[in-house]
This record gives sequence, C-alpha cells and structure tokens, in this order.
Amino acid sequence: MGEELRIKDLRVVFSAEQIAARVREVAAQVDACYGEETLVVVCVLKGGFVFFSDLVRCLQNRNVELDFVRLASYGKSDVSSGHVIFSKDVESDISGKHVLIVEDIVDSGRSMRFLLDQFAARRPRSLRLATLVDKHERRQNTVKADFIGFSLERGFIVGYGLDYAERFRALPGVYEIIPE
Ligand code: IMP
Ligand code: MG
Repeated sequence: MGEELRIKDLRVVFSAEQIAARVREVAAQVDACYGEETLVVVCVLKGGFVFFSDLVRCLQNRNVELDFVRLASYGKSDVSSGHVIFSKDVESDISGKHVLIVEDIVDSGRSMRFLLDQFAARRPRSLRLATLVDKHERRQNTVKADFIGFSLERGFIVGYGLDYAERFRALPGVYEIIPE
C-alpha cells in the first residue's frame, strides 16, 4: 500500500462480538486436538498478540506454555519479495514438544513458510499453525493453516492486532480501510 494513502473510513469486516465467538470455537478445536498434552503456543509479534491472548485464555488445556517470535521481512515492502529473518526467536527449546504458531494473517505465505521451516528443523513433536485470517489472493507459498478464524479472498484489513503503518492495532474489531 502506498505510504501517502488517505483514509476516508473504516468498514467493519468482523465485529468484536463475531471475533470473540469465533475465537471460542477455534479454541475448542485446539483443545480437541491436544487435550491435556503439553503445548507450546508461539505468538508471532506484533500482529498476533490480540488473537493469541484471547485464544490462550479460552483454552481448557492446563499444560500450555507461551513463547514469542518476531519476524522481519526485507525487500520491497508491497510485493513481499524480501527474505524473512527472526528479529526475535523463541526462548524455549521446542524439540520434542507440540508447537502451535499463532499468527494474525497469512497473505503471501512467505513469513509462515520461513517460520514453519525453521521450527520443523528443530524437530518438534508436532507443528501446527493457527491464523486469525487466511487471505488467499496473494498466496505464493504452500502454507496451509491448521486452525483458521476467518477466510478472506482479498482486501487490506486492520484492527485486532493488524496494522496499517503501525496504526489501528488496538481496535477491537477488524476493519477494511476505505481510501479517500
Ligand atoms: P505474508 O508473509 O505475505 O503471508 O505476510 C504476512 C504478514 O503481512 C502478516 O503477518 C501481516 O503482518 C502482514 N499483512 C498481510 N496482509 C495484511 C492485511 O490485510 N492487514 C495488515 N497486515 C497484513
Ligand atoms: Mg504478522
């Protein structure tokens, strides 16, 4: 998106109530998958932090450990051509453990392809991906999320952790930007 974008309005795509109901359903799927097994839930900063904090608090599993990564992508910003690196890695050893990555949105799939490959090399017991939004239009890499909050064909959305140039992360719902 161009930096000089002027915002006319924000249109609700998923309301806070809709998201809360869906997060409970996704948490039930996660619980059905792992039961009481020890599970390391990894938040992908920054965007994943709201979904992550709501999701983990809905889990019945009492053997959940939390960790955090942050990814940085270099290259032309919009085409997502850059390569991805850790700007912060997890602090726990995930080998032999069940690992669930929690991300805000999978778009081209580049970031999650990197993270899934990096984590897989550490030989976790299992490795799965939960994303609040699975956006299909620009998918380039073969990334398939195991737990999906909402599917979206296209569009740029903000709120509930998602930003546009660091704005709007704190909004309680998910919105589409309507340009001027
Ligand atoms: P990917 O590597 O192309 O899948 O990019 C994923 C990252 O791009 C997400 O973690 C977001 O930070 C960002 N992103 C992609 N689409 C959107 C959007 O619609 N709104 C806000 N951020 C987005
Ligand atoms: Mg992100």
